Amino acid sequence: MDMILQTNPGSSYRAHQTEIDEAVARVLKSGWYVLGAEVEAFESEFAEFVGVEHAVGVASGTDGIELILRSLGMGRGDVVITVSHTAVATVAGVELAEVTPVLMDIDAKTFNLDVDRLEATIQQVQADPELGTLKGIMPVHLYGRPVDMPALMEIADRYDLLVIEDCSQAHGATVGGRVTGSWGHAAAYSLYPTKNLGAIGDAGVAVTGDAALAAEMKSLRQYGWKERYISAEPGMNSRLDPLQAAILRVKLRHLAQENSRRAEIAQMYREGIDREAFVHPTVPENATHVYHQYVLRTTQRDAFRAFLKERGVGTLVHYPAPVHLQPAYCDRLSIGAGGMVATEKIAPEIVSLPIYPHLTDAEVERVCDTIAAWTASIAA
Ligand SMILES: Cc1ncc(COP(=O)(O)O)c(C=O)c1O
Repeated sequence: MDMILQTNPGSSYRAHQTEIDEAVARVLKSGWYVLGAEVEAFESEFAEFVGVEHAVGVASGTDGIELILRSLGMGRGDVVITVSHTAVATVAGVELAEVTPVLMDIDAKTFNLDVDRLEATIQQVQADPELGTLKGIMPVHLYGRPVDMPALMEIADRYDLLVIEDCSQAHGATVGGRVTGSWGHAAAYSLYPTKNLGAIGDAGVAVTGDAALAAEMKSLRQYGWKERYISAEPGMNSRLDPLQAAILRVKLRHLAQENSRRAEIAQMYREGIDREAFVHPTVPENATHVYHQYVLRTTQRDAFRAFLKERGVGTLVHYPAPVHLQPAYCDRLSIGAGGMVATEKIAPEIVSLPIYPHLTDAEVERVCDTIAAWTASIAA
């Protein structure tokens, strides 16, 4: 019996192989291998998809976060509030820009930043000048579920804070009728191969409606050049390459349909998996979830995963340790108001089921049947 992988970027290549092979051949023949027309075409198509004016292709999502913060003029002595329950890259990107992250708790029902505790966290940071000057908030639309952006933006506006969205898991998700990434001042996306929009290697993109910020990002991503070979300021090297851009242009054309397929699979899981034995993801109101992950909660996570693995069903854990408990960060980062109760409660319980657009109905049913066999075995 074939293993059902938790994620399967090779299936995405196979599904679009003819188009991707043509795009790759076009770039190889062009003789142009860094930035250039292919990257510009991807940038304008992606900006249009998000509904913003500008997109800037970079080498990874982590670089996108660093580049946005640096280009906004943030650095040492500045503070950004984000969450601990995220890919460590969110926090790594903030620190690469020399900005101090303050980590806050999530709402266990949404797995996202607990907007109800945001204001208390802002006030806590502002009451501690030793931390630095609070400049922004970085919500992460984790697993493809949008953060409550209308509420978050209202608070950010009241405190005059910039909002930088981490959209690495939410390409195309909407909230309040607007695509995530178009709410804040800027947004960063990872285009890592397993993402809803994934390259064939590392890649990322930053978006903004602010022309001056976009121009600064384009300069800083390439040594701080405003004109070739002349650095106006110290910059980095983080350029999206045309091979990845050409492949991403193919995949972008299929993204909306593939996000719908992910939602169909999520619905099959919702209907086909026991609701007593597992906590399912809640369905957001006034938002579209793009199901980068379908994450169940169970107090018997490790035994459950082993049972599935023995029967050919792969799972993963996103993420086993919250950032504030990881060796690189523990005991040195500040924690927001109310501590990390929800973050620490869910961390040992979460498990991500197989989900990618090319998973077949028969495979989804096999996952559901295997989970039913597990529930029967623990009831016995
Ligand atoms: C939420 C989140 N932020 C940031 C990143 C960083 O992206 P990359 O791996 O492209 O640097 C990722 C990717 O794993 C992510 O999931």
